[in-house]
Amino acid sequence: MQSGVLVANSPTLFDRLGAQKPDALLQLIALCNADPRPDKIDVGVGVYKDSAGNTPILRAVKKAEAILLETQETKSYLGSQGDARFVELIKPIAFGEGASGDDRIVGVQTPGGCGALRLGAELIVAADPDARIFVGQPTWPNHGPLIECAGVRMVNHPYYDNQSHAILFDEMMSALGEGRPGDLVLVHGCCHNPTGADLSLDQWRALADIVSRRGLIPFVDLAYQGLGHGLEADAEGTRLVVEAADQALVAHSNDKNFGIYRERTGSLFIKASSKAAAGTVMSNLLGLARTMWSMPPDHGAAVVRIVLDDADLRADWRSELDEMCARIRSLRARLAAYDERLAYIGDQNGMFSMLPLSPEQVLAVREKDGIYMAGSGRFNVVGLSDDNVDRFAAAVVREMDG
Ligand code: LMR
Repeated sequence: MQSGVLVANSPTLFDRLGAQKPDALLQLIALCNADPRPDKIDVGVGVYKDSAGNTPILRAVKKAEAILLETQETKSYLGSQGDARFVELIKPIAFGEGASGDDRIVGVQTPGGCGALRLGAELIVAADPDARIFVGQPTWPNHGPLIECAGVRMVNHPYYDNQSHAILFDEMMSALGEGRPGDLVLVHGCCHNPTGADLSLDQWRALADIVSRRGLIPFVDLAYQGLGHGLEADAEGTRLVVEAADQALVAHSNDKNFGIYRERTGSLFIKASSKAAAGTVMSNLLGLARTMWSMPPDHGAAVVRIVLDDADLRADWRSELDEMCARIRSLRARLAAYDERLAYIGDQNGMFSMLPLSPEQVLAVREKDGIYMAGSGRFNVVGLSDDNVDRFAAAVVREMDG
């Protein structure tokens, strides 16, 4: 009888699942790969490409990997915090030199920026199951699933108008004006994904002010530091809001600024209200990480640590990062100069901007021109090469003209 029940029930477990739609951005990679046209243009997923259309491994990364291969003596466990020296080296990059000794800020290594966002969301729910987070729209499509999966309630507000290319700052501030003490605010530290539209320093100051007045808690996603206006400039806004807040979370990624996408290298930092509270936070981060990935993958963080701990490798990384940043800016300038309706792209930052195209127009450029961009009209500026930027701009303008 007992075994009969088991036999009857067990095959139905997975039959209860509904099929899920594949992630649209990841699906786009597969679609583009399958397109045989040699002149197709992949401006889908956010990956840096050089003028020849390749995603190179940075010189400093290659050298650090060689050093790692030579010198690593064990692959034994490091623990849930990951590589503590890596975390110590990232802290001043994100928060400024003065933050190194700030014992209210603690951090752990995470599997990429996604891992940092998810761990942060889990920490929030552990502290307050009723927590809610303000999220400007549009945002990176994976923010919602990552945050809601952990159980944090999202309160959406307008951030950007894709027709006028304007940040809807008044709407954002009025939404945050309804915030209660302890509410969270998701902020893109720089290189807003998907819009490329970053707050000005004055807007950051106003945001810092409302955060401080209303007791809000910023949750900053800093995934593209160095690819907007440079390493220091790209952290200014983050530092302003973190400074203004009694408590804050910062999800940091090295996947893009070291070009080590698949190594999944990130970190989560928490600013707590006191050193003692930071200690408690740390114990919670370690406990939560243990239930999800136990310990983060080592390779990427070890490489970043070796680069940052060596003056020459660090300088070489900085110069390659600045080159990547300059290339993004020059592609933006070329698009902006092509047609006045694309001029706004020159003022935006990072890998992404949005085109005011309908999903049908996005499909049309895919079919007619082999241009692969997200259905929202988001495109990866640096997916373009010097040879195809004009062809891309011409196709977009043709669609805009109807
Ligand atoms: C992107 O937005 O293209 C990147 O952040 C890659 C990803 O994981 O979605």
